Amino acid sequence: MKILLLGAGGQVGTELRRSLAVAGVVTACGRGEADLQDARQLAQVLATSQADVVVNAAAYTAVDKAQTEPDAARRINAEAVAELAAHCHKTGSLLVHYSTDYVFDGMLSRPYTEADATHPLSIYGQTKLQGEEAIRASGCRHLVFRTSWVYSATGGNFLKTILKLAADRDELRVVADQWGAPTSARLLAEVTTRVISELAEMDEHWGTYHLTAGGETNWHAYASYAIARARSQGLPLQVKNIVPIPAADYPTPAARPANSRLDCGKLSSTFSLQLPDWRRDVDSVVDTLVAAASSTP
Ligand SMILES: NC(=O)c1ccc[n+]([C@@H]2O[C@H](COP(=O)([O-])OP(=O)(O)OC[C@H]3O[C@@H](n4cnc5c(N)ncnc54)[C@H](OP(=O)(O)O)[C@@H]3O)[C@@H](O)[C@H]2O)c1
Repeated sequence: MKILLLGAGGQVGTELRRSLAVAGVVTACGRGEADLQDARQLAQVLATSQADVVVNAAAYTAVDKAQTEPDAARRINAEAVAELAAHCHKTGSLLVHYSTDYVFDGMLSRPYTEADATHPLSIYGQTKLQGEEAIRASGCRHLVFRTSWVYSATGGNFLKTILKLAADRDELRVVADQWGAPTSARLLAEVTTRVISELAEMDEHWGTYHLTAGGETNWHAYASYAIARARSQGLPLQVKNIVPIPAADYPTPAARPANSRLDCGKLSSTFSLQLPDWRRDVDSVVDTLVAAASSTP
């Protein structure tokens, strides 16, 4: 199986480069080789790859910046994705794509299912939804995985930011009224690889799926958990107070949903998967970060 991976330098792309190698021959492209803002280059890369599976881990992910750069966000998250979908429809390739909890407004009081109505609160959420919708409208075989709160030992994310702040400050104020599931890039890559391998054997079960780690938390509890884990592994941290605050006290250019919980029952039952509790991979990534900090002079 020939696999074309786009966005190979991002959090999820980095993990996919590793995991997809067991499923096929991977051509991994970063922005330098395949810029989603350049339609001609993208078309050329797609044509020469002759891929059976196109995995798109590239995206405009700067949620707040998207509010003032809507054109770039729309080009990368929506128009380029529509071009990928049109190509895959024409060639019969499978398109694998990632989307977000931010397609919802977070007003429901239970986890969102794939059947729930979307209503994004931000430009980022709108453009990600447009990308999803273009894929579904194209008629191509696809897997759209909606996920949340992605982190890894590489790249920029909440987990790394909070540990850095905890090293330098006595007090942290962290939002406690937004709920979701921190999901590791590694889990996304492992599940993607497994599902692609299964789909290669059959022509059904493609579609949109929610994919997050199990359980739920809020940003404050997540931060407190990660800081405790880092301390237990010997990382010296200055922080003494981790103060829970409402999101209203931490205004951001882009509004975030209060409820980002995604119901992953459809994915688990279709592919007989058990998604691990969010703490498992937080432990593992924190341990990696602590080990890296200890070995840095
Ligand atoms: N991060 C989250 O919390 C989160 C939550 C829900 C869903 N998701 C979705 O999960 C997927 C993977 O996200 P991630 O966390 O791995 O994001 P990430 O670490 O920000 O990686 C995104 C990648 O896309 C690349 N990219 C940006 N613009 C590009 C362009 N014009 N052409 C080619 N590549 C471009 C970036 O390259 P550069 O490094 O060169 O900019 C980066 O390597 C995305 O679809 C995202 O929307 C993420």
